[in-house]
Amino acid sequence: MAGLLDLVERHGLANVRIFDADVRVLLEALPPACLERIFVLFPDPWPKARHRKRRFINQASVARICDLLVDAGELRLATDIEDYALDMEQALESREELQWSHHRPSDWPPTRYETKARAAGREPVFLAGVRRRRAITAPGSR
Ligand SMILES: C[S@@+](CC[C@H](N)C(=O)[O-])C[C@H]1O[C@@H](n2cnc3c(N)ncnc32)[C@H](O)[C@@H]1O
Repeated sequence: MAGLLDLVERHGLANVRIFDADVRVLLEALPPACLERIFVLFPDPWPKARHRKRRFINQASVARICDLLVDAGELRLATDIEDYALDMEQALESREELQWSHHRPSDWPPTRYETKARAAGREPVFLAGVRRRRAITAPGSR
């Protein structure tokens, strides 16, 4: 956090907001269709089978993220854990409003954890999902 604040100050950035707490609280508080891009890069792997339910990316969190994305907004995910990548794919697959692929756009920044994963010989998986346009409903119709 201190490093991030230092970067914000050194670059004179005025458009950065930092939430230094459990992001799930923020996801619940935000209004629908308010975010253009959401990056979830190398979320904690929780490798033990009995801890899997603690993994951040699952069908419920991806459903919530879909609500928060604007039309054509993007969700970007990365992991170096093979079975987590499969869970991520299933969660993306479960949302028909998302068009997703194994894809790493060129403006996707590397992270410290990515460097560590590669150094340890683990090849990361990158997934990008684009939210399809919401259907326009006429006033008074359901
Ligand atoms: C494996 S590290 C990856 C860090 C960074 N994204 C990277 O790629 O270098 C996972 C990070 O997710 C954070 N984290 C886990 N659960 C979180 C939550 N519910 N809300 C906010 N941050 C969380 C942890 O504190 C940790 O910094």
